[in-house]
Amino acid sequence: MTEKSQSVSAAPGSDEVLKVPQFPGCPDFITVRDFNFFYGEKQALKDITLEIPERQVTAFIGPSGCGKTTLLRNFNRMNELIDGVRHTGDIKIAGRSIWDPSVEVVAVRRFVGMVFQKPNAFAKSIYENVVYGLRIAGVRERAVLDEAAERSLGSAALWEEVKDRLHESALGLSGGQMQRLCIARAIANRPKVLLMDEPCSALDPIATIRIEELIKELKKDFTIVIVTHNMQQATRCSDFCGFFYLGRVLEFDRTESIFNDPLGKRTEDYVTGRFG
Ligand SMILES: Nc1ncnc2c1ncn2[C@@H]1O[C@H](COP(=O)(O)OP(=O)(O)O)[C@@H](O)[C@H]1O
Ligand SMILES: [Mg+2]
Repeated sequence: MTEKSQSVSAAPGSDEVLKVPQFPGCPDFITVRDFNFFYGEKQALKDITLEIPERQVTAFIGPSGCGKTTLLRNFNRMNELIDGVRHTGDIKIAGRSIWDPSVEVVAVRRFVGMVFQKPNAFAKSIYENVVYGLRIAGVRERAVLDEAAERSLGSAALWEEVKDRLHESALGLSGGQMQRLCIARAIANRPKVLLMDEPCSALDPIATIRIEELIKELKKDFTIVIVTHNMQQATRCSDFCGFFYLGRVLEFDRTESIFNDPLGKRTEDYVTGRFG
């Protein structure tokens, strides 16, 4: 099994080479091409080209402020809620540009679910939290909502803990349960991609391990992209890793290659904890 890698671009003044491999047996699902992103005058992402494989867990790692959240939030066009942003280049998901004029932004957001750093349960019942997106989409049939609630809570490994109190407030759940509830809400509408921006940073170690186990389960059904500052977490639950540095992706490869055989000195220093 040989893996092609091509050198696409490198940070000016550095000898680091961006590796954009194609991975045999792992079809691409999200394709980022020559992508630049600006908040007003400030350029937050520079010349990003990479392929995210389908039904795998891809982790974005790197120091704070290097653009991980910005790229993640482009995948479901969330950044467009901010005034004065613009981009060049393209992102395709499942072969189609997310900015194709025939693609509606609500369709992109339904296709690409998102879980945030702090579990953001609404002040509603557990049940209503899960079916929230379906209600917004106009679903009324009780049987459809019930099926979605049970399926999503089951997939999020929360059903057994909450099935007897579905109509109690979600605000009574623990932090770890609440984050699993947010995962259930994100998958209720059957997206294909699940984005997670530091989903465990507000959780204790036991709740964190549960979410990591859940992530490994969920990749059977979803293409998962997770931002994490926790290197153990990246090695435990991701298959692929992109290393971000000052708005660029300096390396993208299988996680074991990034950790055991990094190409660049900056990647090596970061994954071994010498800076960050
Ligand atoms: N809403 C915003 N307006 C202006 N600049 C922003 C905004 N959000 C992020 N940035 C800037 O973009 C850069 C990348 O930020 P971010 O994507 O949040 O990085 P990371 O997730 O890697 O910590 C940073 O310099 C940050 O200050
Ligand atoms: Mg971030």
